Amino acid sequence: MGLLDGKVCMVSGAGQGLGRAVCLEMAGEGAEVVLLERNAATLKAVAAEIAAAGGKAHSFELDVTDYERYATVVDETISRLGRIDVLVNNAAINPATRTILTDTLEEWRRTIAINLEAVYMGSKLVAPHMVKLQGGRIIHIASIQGFASSGDCGAYNAAKGGIIAYTKSMAVELGPYGVLVNSVAPGFMATPMSIVNGVDEATTPEFQEWYVARRKIPLGRTGYPEDVSGTVIFLASGYCRYMTGQLLVVDGGLMSTF
Ligand SMILES: NC(=O)c1ccc[n+]([C@@H]2O[C@H](COP(=O)([O-])OP(=O)(O)OC[C@H]3O[C@@H](n4cnc5c(N)ncnc54)[C@H](O)[C@@H]3O)[C@@H](O)[C@H]2O)c1
Repeated sequence: MGLLDGKVCMVSGAGQGLGRAVCLEMAGEGAEVVLLERNAATLKAVAAEIAAAGGKAHSFELDVTDYERYATVVDETISRLGRIDVLVNNAAINPATRTILTDTLEEWRRTIAINLEAVYMGSKLVAPHMVKLQGGRIIHIASIQGFASSGDCGAYNAAKGGIIAYTKSMAVELGPYGVLVNSVAPGFMATPMSIVNGVDEATTPEFQEWYVARRKIPLGRTGYPEDVSGTVIFLASGYCRYMTGQLLVVDGGLMSTF
């Protein structure tokens, strides 16, 4: 018996990092996983990994900002699988060092489009199907940068803060239909996103000195996708049934120090 037996779980940004870990874990818990990813090669690789482990995956190459195609993908999923029980809005970008003094309106809009507007649109396309079922889970992947800032990625922070606020508004609206909406805020995570200009941020001397040696991260290390994916599984599972509108911070304790 898996925690997600018989569930259809859709995950955006499934090709690497946290999305990949969530998909593998969901499939391992018995879900049929619907993988959304704009990178065809990584999409194929994750689907193959799931199949090799005996799980069920359905792949759709999709840029989440292509709303016409997103709608077709949702419709196809419903006609093939009959339902969507869980949506994980995970796809995002984090363009390096973008501040109000250095970025452009175009860059701001692109980050907001992928990291916030597509979260709205994906949820908007899937929620009516959950309402029809009188149940479902929508899980947004936010970030600690949605409520604290490193000072160098303004649009990313604004999008993540928006997700945290929107989680509450969606939870209030969809609660009467049995649809639970929560978000997860990872701290540092070792994924391709954390490689900035070819350097993994967790391997720099500054990171080691400040976050590890001085225990700014009380657990003394960066996080890995597998440290966060279990929280997503919990929110998708039957163990989460009286919690909605919440943000779960998974950061090794970073936000508990000053
Ligand atoms: N890595 C971190 O330190 C960290 C920290 C806090 C929060 N997060 C959040 O966790 C989530 C996963 O991040 P990650 O570190 O695994 O990132 P990642 O860059 O390793 O993976 C993101 C995936 O999303 C896909 N993607 C991006 N734009 C897309 C689009 N328009 N359409 C479809 N797919 C798209 C990418 O191709 C990639 O496969 C994101 O929401 C991110 O903001 C990451």
